[in-house]
Amino acid sequence: MHLPDYKEARSRSKKKYNRIDFKIDNSIEKKYVGKKYYLKTYGCQMNEHDSENISAMLEAMGFVRADDYNDADLVLLNTCSIRENAHNKAFGMLGRLKHLKGQKKDLIIGLCGCMAQEAKVCEEILNKYKYVNFVFGTHNIYQLPEIVDRAVSSSKQQIEVYSREGDLVEGLPVVRDKNYKAFVNIIYGCDKFCTYCIVPYTRGRERSRKKEDIIEEVKSLVSDGYKEVTLLGQNVNAYGKDLYDDYDMGDLLEDIAKLNIPRIRFMTSHPWDFTDKMIEVIAKYPNIMPSVHLPVQSGSSRILKLMGRRYTRESYLELFHKIKDIIPNVSVSTDIIVGFPGEEEEDFLETLSLVNECKFDNAFTFIFSEREGTPACRLKDNTTLKEKEDRLYRLNDVVNKYFLENNKKLEGKTVKVLVEGVSDKKDMYFGYSDTNKLINFTCEKEVNCGDIVDVQITSAKTWSLDGKCK
Ligand code: 5AD
Ligand code: SF4
Repeated sequence: MHLPDYKEARSRSKKKYNRIDFKIDNSIEKKYVGKKYYLKTYGCQMNEHDSENISAMLEAMGFVRADDYNDADLVLLNTCSIRENAHNKAFGMLGRLKHLKGQKKDLIIGLCGCMAQEAKVCEEILNKYKYVNFVFGTHNIYQLPEIVDRAVSSSKQQIEVYSREGDLVEGLPVVRDKNYKAFVNIIYGCDKFCTYCIVPYTRGRERSRKKEDIIEEVKSLVSDGYKEVTLLGQNVNAYGKDLYDDYDMGDLLEDIAKLNIPRIRFMTSHPWDFTDKMIEVIAKYPNIMPSVHLPVQSGSSRILKLMGRRYTRESYLELFHKIKDIIPNVSVSTDIIVGFPGEEEEDFLETLSLVNECKFDNAFTFIFSEREGTPACRLKDNTTLKEKEDRLYRLNDVVNKYFLENNKKLEGKTVKVLVEGVSDKKDMYFGYSDTNKLINFTCEKEVNCGDIVDVQITSAKTWSLDGKCK
């Protein structure tokens, strides 16, 4: 048994991390033919992509996917730690599974992902959730086949979670959720240590994949007919810093743009590492989508300092305007936290005024959630939850106003949409525009998922637009 430890998770040494090539043991391959798995994913795209690797490993063991957990022999929760409510959802699901295990004694239950990296969660599972058979962390996903195999044959809980800074694993199998758009990891971990954030503890240090490995993966997606790749990382802009002296995110974006995949996206960008070269490359290549996710978190320089964000209101605005001025037709989205410890009404009003200046195309807004072990927990917080909820409500009112205002500007215009399916509303398709807006549209000719079509916008709403195919 290996339990996680934040002290170790926090360390950032100069030593080289290991590169591991995944291989499944012959004795486990296809051992579970006839068994079914159910995988539930919480949280961000990194977790979604990890789940694509997890599914592939389970399928290599012989499991097939079940759409309902009641039908499964193995249920695995790939969890998220970012805010308290993510925790609550996963524990709620474990509660429901206890009931199922009561009826189905052979059911195997596992938990992985960011929550597994928290010592407190593992202790709780050892003490209170004894029916959970196994836990593994974000650093040892590649050990899944052995851990599941051990959990099946042993009555003891298998808890294998490491807090090392992280290795770099290549060669994990993948079953992609869609056959026209794909996630590609370019960098793992985060060294920014924003004071509210758990990610540097749960995901380890920044580790870039070699450019050759990334380019090979994208090339094979192109030859398989994929239309869109999203380059993933907690902070993609830090790409290459740990590996190369003279090759960074701008260079990688340019090399990938030259592979002629129709659409390239990337997320998430920390404002700190957003270089002029990146802006230039995004502006230059039409296949790099003009859509930037640039979390601001707060509009108050005083709060940004307490958050450890490494930029001020002024330097964020300077970068924001540079991006807007240089990249034609660009949309910018953001993340904002209200109620950070010490945030006064005055600071909150600065956030509102920044939103009024930036008029974001999309914004994810959150109330600060205390994450045990992070420095923000030690800050004094005099604001009541009621006040925080009120700020969130007022903020959402303003951001929503700009979503609609921006969308209205598209009425009558034609946008390119990557078709993703038939929408809930009958006879309508849906997909995303180059600027990442959700478009519902009618079309007289038949279209398929993965087609890129021209859609004329007929009416704008706050979170989507309606249109008709040309
Ligand atoms: N509380 C609230 N929101 C948080 N985020 C990260 N940590 C916390 C926290 N402790 C938000 C940030 C980040 C997004 C992914 O989640 O806005 O950009
Ligand atoms: Fe968390 Fe900050 Fe790293 Fe983003 S940049 S993952 S908010 S520590």
